[in-house]
Amino acid sequence: MPQVIVNLAYLVASILFILSLKGLTHPRTAVRGNLMGAAGMLLAIVVTLLDRAIVSYDLIIAGLVVGSAAGIPMALKVPMTAMPQLIALFNGFGGGASVLVAGAAVTETILIASGFSTQVTVSIAASGIVGAVTFWGSLVAFGKLQGFISEKSRSLPAHQLWNGLLGAACLALAAWLVVDPTATLSYWGLVLASSLLGVMLVMPIGGADMPVVISLLNSYSGIAAAATGFVLSNNALIIAGALVGASGIILTRIMCRAMNRSLTNVLFGVMAPAERTSAAGEDIYAGKVKATSPEEVAMLFDTARRVVVVPGYGLAVAQAQHAVRDLASALESRGVIVEYGIHPVAGRMPGHMNVLLADANVPYEKLKDMDEINSTFAQTDVVLVIGANDVVNPLARTDASSPIAGMPILEVDKAKTVVVMKRSLSPGFAGIPNPLFAADNTLMLFADGKKGVLELIAALKET
Ligand code: TAP
Repeated sequence: MPQVIVNLAYLVASILFILSLKGLTHPRTAVRGNLMGAAGMLLAIVVTLLDRAIVSYDLIIAGLVVGSAAGIPMALKVPMTAMPQLIALFNGFGGGASVLVAGAAVTETILIASGFSTQVTVSIAASGIVGAVTFWGSLVAFGKLQGFISEKSRSLPAHQLWNGLLGAACLALAAWLVVDPTATLSYWGLVLASSLLGVMLVMPIGGADMPVVISLLNSYSGIAAAATGFVLSNNALIIAGALVGASGIILTRIMCRAMNRSLTNVLFGVMAPAERTSAAGEDIYAGKVKATSPEEVAMLFDTARRVVVVPGYGLAVAQAQHAVRDLASALESRGVIVEYGIHPVAGRMPGHMNVLLADANVPYEKLKDMDEINSTFAQTDVVLVIGANDVVNPLARTDASSPIAGMPILEVDKAKTVVVMKRSLSPGFAGIPNPLFAADNTLMLFADGKKGVLELIAALKET
């Protein structure tokens, strides 16, 4: 295939990737954006297969069949709440693929054909290091989120020193490969050291820092892919990898800000261990928690002019989004203003609440970001918190020793009345008690998210 056509097709694919990212920035255009990205990727794959002198398609077709047989059921069946693990796994596979392609380049003809070019050897070393860190780091993250290994922070004595030594070993082996490209042993040594580094970087991270590390590993997988693009001289791979790398870093930064973590700490893998501490003591609830009923809340709604719904992880578990939309419609038909307060890390993945509520056709304009909604809580009659806990925990403001200390929260405690709907007083992801549940203006509606909202709708009809 003439090179000009190949490059033109890669250009079209790259434009589709960029338009895809743009589409993904808004729920209304997200599906179109996703399709554009997929179309760009299909174009890039087909052109690459036609361009390269493929000796036999047998293995490629076998790979496609096995990959599709594993991927399609996974994509269809995985619950939304397990999405972070799946993303961790996908990131890992991307990193692993980069390691294997760069490994093949060392042992096969690509390196020789390039005349042992320094650009290619440096790219091979970068693919090996970043790819192996991504693969093993992602597997550890997957294991932690899936409960295969303890999600608690685990570290060795002088952990950062070991990390430093492993990092230095990776760089030394990379230098050896660049100086002597025929020394294939240096590449596999580098992969081994980076694999250990990947495990060591993620093992100390636990608790609420996990989403940040998944996003960072996503960025790493893009960087590894871009480096592999240089190994294979494939422009589409370089551009796609760079886009993933850059968007992953931007998302990491947004999440760091939302969780009050510093990006430098994340990059150097020195996140504070998120040990589960009972900072305020379990007895903060003693004698102070006021349980309520759907009928009582319906009466509160009856006199309310403004209601803010704050969804959290429990809303996703209960799949209560459609019921919540029906409740909002019932309230709106009585002239109540209903809005939603969305915390950037509510749930278990970025945008989790937006996806759920968009699925239930909640108008996007009603979803308000934390910064926007926080200033309005003081003028809100009732805040209905459904299955959210850490993102509304005032300890973030008041207890410097808490694992969520400094994390910006939805300041629902400033509203006239707060109704918290959850099944018990159990803690959320960070494993700490929540003084909001014992506050004077809080009423606890102990119920499953969906069942509770349906009961509220029924009680509203009675009033
Ligand atoms: P959490 O603090 O995790 O609290 C969720 C609450 O939902 C629990 O306390 C639980 O209480 C309740 N719940 C569970 N199932 C329920 C059901 N069927 N019906 C009603 N309630 C139910 O959630 P959050 O406030 O959304 O905060 C998210 C946390 O996850 C943060 O700490 C965040 O850092 C972390 N995290 C976020 C992400 C991203 S990117 N979003 C990824 C990983 C981790 P009961 O058991 O008493 O019902």
